[in-house]
Amino acid sequence: MNLPRLIVVDDAEAASAVAVARVLALMAAKPQAVLGLATGETMRPVHRRLVEAHRRGAVSFARARSFNLDEYIGLRPGHPASFASFMRRTLFDAVDFAAGATHLPDGDDPAAYEAAIKAAGGIDLQLLGIGGNGHIGFNEPGSDVASRTRIVRLADATRADNAPAFAPDPVPEQAVTMGIGTILEARAVLLIATGGAKAPAVAAALGPAITPHCPASALRLHPAAVIVADRAAAAGVS
Ligand code: F6R
Repeated sequence: MNLPRLIVVDDAEAASAVAVARVLALMAAKPQAVLGLATGETMRPVHRRLVEAHRRGAVSFARARSFNLDEYIGLRPGHPASFASFMRRTLFDAVDFAAGATHLPDGDDPAAYEAAIKAAGGIDLQLLGIGGNGHIGFNEPGSDVASRTRIVRLADATRADNAPAFAPDPVPEQAVTMGIGTILEARAVLLIATGGAKAPAVAAALGPAITPHCPASALRLHPAAVIVADRAAAAGVS
């Protein structure tokens, strides 16, 4: 087991710059790469920088494929708070993925998502955020380290964190997420943590042992996971 390598930078902008440099290096070396993508506030500056890089001709996604971590269950197609909508708004509509090359999991057939990832040759680089409760994807505390893509019930804390995107409507109670086992099969994993609200989760992720209380602590089962944290998110790491 290897603790993830921790890179501490000043702020969220610097963290996103580190992540995007990793993506651009991968894309330069392997234009047909398979990217594991995430949503959430942490990813906004990452996606903005990827769009900027694409506009200045520094990267093309024309031969790449992507698999997102997760999606809510029960939203009507095109719901503005769906992760599919988020991805279109922040990235997909502004870069050059081929039609059909981007994927989000579908609660109707989680096993098909695993099969599609395998058929694509596996994920080269999985980007992750982290929940205030230590979740990765929507693998909430208590998730098994060997879990696969499946339907999960969202933790109350997660629903509260994500409430602003849905207000005044309630946040869905269920989601479909890649499992921790699915995430750990990616050839490279890069978790980005920014802001003081993530400090306890980052400290637990890098704590003495894998604990079901902090799903991100399972990243030490990956041979070379990296955590990029800003100073505020790294503040609890001893
Ligand atoms: C999103 C995802 C989640 C988020 C996490 C942090 O696709 O899988 O694990 O990365 O909830 O969300 P933000 O970045 O909004 O704090």
